[in-house]
Amino acid sequence: MKKLLKVGDTISAVRYWSERANAYNEQIDGPYHRHRLAVIHRLLEAVALDGTFCVDFGCGDGVMLEFLVARGACVFGCDPVAEMVAAAQRRIGNKGAVVRGGVDALARIKPRSVDCVLALNVLAYLTAAEEQTFYREAARILKPGAALVVTHSNELFDMYTLNRLTVDFYARHFCGEGSADRIASLLTHPQIPERIVFNVRENPLSYAHKLAEFGFREDQQEFMNLHPLPPLLMDPEGFRNIDAREYAPTLDWPEQERWKLMFMCSMFGSRATLIAEN
Ligand SMILES: C[S@@+](CC[C@H](N)C(=O)[O-])C[C@H]1O[C@@H](n2cnc3c(N)ncnc32)[C@H](O)[C@@H]1O
Repeated sequence: MKKLLKVGDTISAVRYWSERANAYNEQIDGPYHRHRLAVIHRLLEAVALDGTFCVDFGCGDGVMLEFLVARGACVFGCDPVAEMVAAAQRRIGNKGAVVRGGVDALARIKPRSVDCVLALNVLAYLTAAEEQTFYREAARILKPGAALVVTHSNELFDMYTLNRLTVDFYARHFCGEGSADRIASLLTHPQIPERIVFNVRENPLSYAHKLAEFGFREDQQEFMNLHPLPPLLMDPEGFRNIDAREYAPTLDWPEQERWKLMFMCSMFGSRATLIAEN
């Protein structure tokens, strides 16, 4: 099996996002973003924002910075891609600072000064070292009791897609290195789509343990981007064009069916509270 191309590992995340910044930002008012932003808004319902100081790490075009400013927060955003920084600064004008940078940009923020850190659809692109720094920095700059809100690619979705990511999942977690070819030969669907993946993938069932290592308690999870069929069975246009899909409302899903969201949704969001003095 070919080695997976991973953004943040074998492909530079900054280059990947510089090439996609304009296309991504043009879709920001479309169905895909409306759906995921609704989930993020739900995660933030329990967080007081008025008069607080919030940090949006990997802020992209600043769609959430604008939301936070509208709710009375002072904001700081950072992103390593110049086009994103310019777009975000245009959105919020002089109502907050946006700087160019990755985890290094968090170093300039004072300890215990932040009420909420957001990291939305961004941690997947970090290298392993950057990811460690991100969580350590979040725990350093947040006030005890303050919130961390993240959204992630859902690793359990790889159990549902029946493609080479499913093979990768089995090899990584259950069968061990070197087993990938053997498992791949068991796939009944011969077409393995070329797909770029991301360096950090997150498992909603074990994410609370990872957060706990950095002093956080996970309080809430929500799921988004439900696929009624595994992607290989979807119409290829619907798979490629994220705005051609219908997004099932995953918030308020019936409790007895909620477990299915863990597998059928390609993304999940999490809200956590900083509990420890680090
Ligand atoms: C999918 S976009 C999400 C943007 C925004 N958070 C949102 O939810 O709309 C991913 C963002 O992560 C940024 N990014 C990529 N690598 C990064 C890194 N190493 N550190 C910080 N941000 C990064 C990209 O430039 C891009 O703006």
